[in-house]
Amino acid sequence: MRPATRALPKAMLPIVDRPAVQWVVEEAVRAGAREVFVIVDPGVGVLIDRHFNSQEEGPLPGLEDVVVHPIVQDVPRGLGDAVRTAADAVGHRPFFTLLVDNLVYPDGDVLGHMADAADAGSVVCLRELGTEYLARYGFIVPGEWRTDRVVEVHGAIEKPGVEAAPSKLGLIGRYLFSSAIFEALDHIEPGVGGELQLTDAINAVGEAGSCLGYVSEDDLLDSGTPSGYLESSTVLGAAHPDFGARYRAFVTEFTEGL
Ligand code: G1P
Repeated sequence: MRPATRALPKAMLPIVDRPAVQWVVEEAVRAGAREVFVIVDPGVGVLIDRHFNSQEEGPLPGLEDVVVHPIVQDVPRGLGDAVRTAADAVGHRPFFTLLVDNLVYPDGDVLGHMADAADAGSVVCLRELGTEYLARYGFIVPGEWRTDRVVEVHGAIEKPGVEAAPSKLGLIGRYLFSSAIFEALDHIEPGVGGELQLTDAINAVGEAGSCLGYVSEDDLLDSGTPSGYLESSTVLGAAHPDFGARYRAFVTEFTEGL
């Protein structure tokens, strides 16, 4: 997303009328979250605070009863390390983890389905992905199927590539973790790219028999690339209650002229 993100963090890029991070917070809130920790790079916490906790502007509509706190990840040691920075704040509660690059479609209820699938352990959201994703996403080692959408996760490999891929069931940026993930994160070594990989901790809880996968019917939008960003803006703009109708008419007219 360069040059857009040279000065602005990706999480604060606007999609339609709100920053990407707000879409993700709203999704978590729809699934029942009332406390949200946003893991950010140094210098970004102040922006998150100003956006969600502005005294002058007051609370954001729909988020009046939600507490949003930034937590700074001092050094970019990887996604696993980012999640671990929230360990003290989260404590022993189960929690959702949402990657801000991946946004749900307007009617998507991925987190709700994951919560329904959950027992005492963790649940990761999966999609059957094409070969071109095998070197870009994490993939799970599937075990027994509990239902046609819920599968036991016996392990996971980050960016396995075609040769090492244990399945085509990819991790798509939505997780429901029990606090056992923190214990696993404390014991992983740097993995792919020298980073502490969340997928390696998922592998550990999977091997320990306490992880399920929910295979989502719904695709997610990828707002973290220029083309995905355009698609995200179009999908979420077209569904906007105030100006979606006008935008849909514009898109129809515009594409007819192409
Ligand atoms: C991260 C995760 C990966 C997951 C992907 C989903 O990768 O490490 O397991 O499949 O998000 O978008 P990244 O995008 O940071 O390379």
